[in-house]
Amino acid sequence: RTTAVILAGGTGQRVGLSIPKQLLKIAGKAVIEHTLTTFEKADSIDDIIVLMAPGYVPDVEKIVAKAGFKKVSRVIEGGSTRNETTERAISALREGLAEGEDLNVLFHDAVRPLLSQRVIDDCVSALERYQAVDVAIPSADTIIVTRTHGGDGEFITEIPDRSRLRRGQTPQAFKLSTIRRAYEVAAGDPNFQATDDCSVVLKYLPDVPIHVVAGDEYNMKVTQPVDVFIADKLFQLASTAAPEQKGEETYRELLTDKTVVVFGG
Ligand code: CTP
Repeated sequence: RTTAVILAGGTGQRVGLSIPKQLLKIAGKAVIEHTLTTFEKADSIDDIIVLMAPGYVPDVEKIVAKAGFKKVSRVIEGGSTRNETTERAISALREGLAEGEDLNVLFHDAVRPLLSQRVIDDCVSALERYQAVDVAIPSADTIIVTRTHGGDGEFITEIPDRSRLRRGQTPQAFKLSTIRRAYEVAAGDPNFQATDDCSVVLKYLPDVPIHVVAGDEYNMKVTQPVDVFIADKLFQLASTAAPEQKGEETYRELLTDKTVVVFGG
């Protein structure tokens, strides 16, 4: 069985609105509703749980009821950091398991509403061979490493070879037993710090290979105010073409010499 875990425990400080960004309406639907629709439709997903920002669980329950999502089995509160939210999901999923039973889990940011079916399917397929799977795309920008120097601001210490750099997205997919073990080891580290789940496996279970699946440029994370405008435009475009088929292929079909003239007025 494969469960999708929708991480929605954040409050969206960088977007800076009065509600968490996952509840923001884009193209007529809350961001999290777009995300849930994608997983609801995925043949490879059996069940969905949502971890929502404290105080907003009823909002998600309403969205789920109204949309009639059948796979969403639980909406519970997230933790105070993204990793705490993941840990809560792990505990919740363990409760329902029989002794010795394992599960495929896909952790996905609620605020990546443009995820494609192709990426979900590739993650689930990769779990047939690997215990840990990440999704990433090449970086178009040069990435620099800096350090701050007193009051003089930042200085470059390193410019890693761009051809090997990737930008991590979600889903991040695991065997439940593996990600659980990684967090158990991490619990013994007083300096534990991470912002995603693959880094917990990389650091605390270094012998477990983490396979990388090709992500999708359109699988953007709504993080800054500008992303709200970009996501809105992408949904508008997708709805004119094949609304079920978000992802690179849809947008490639849309981008022809003819449409460029149309978009440009
Ligand atoms: N997340 C979570 N639990 C937290 C913090 C974040 O489940 N305690 C989730 C967010 O809801 C989001 C994803 O992790 O879907 C990616 O995090 P990010 O974009 O950093 O979201 P926020 O924490 O909401 O944003 P900000 O840092 O701007 O406050």
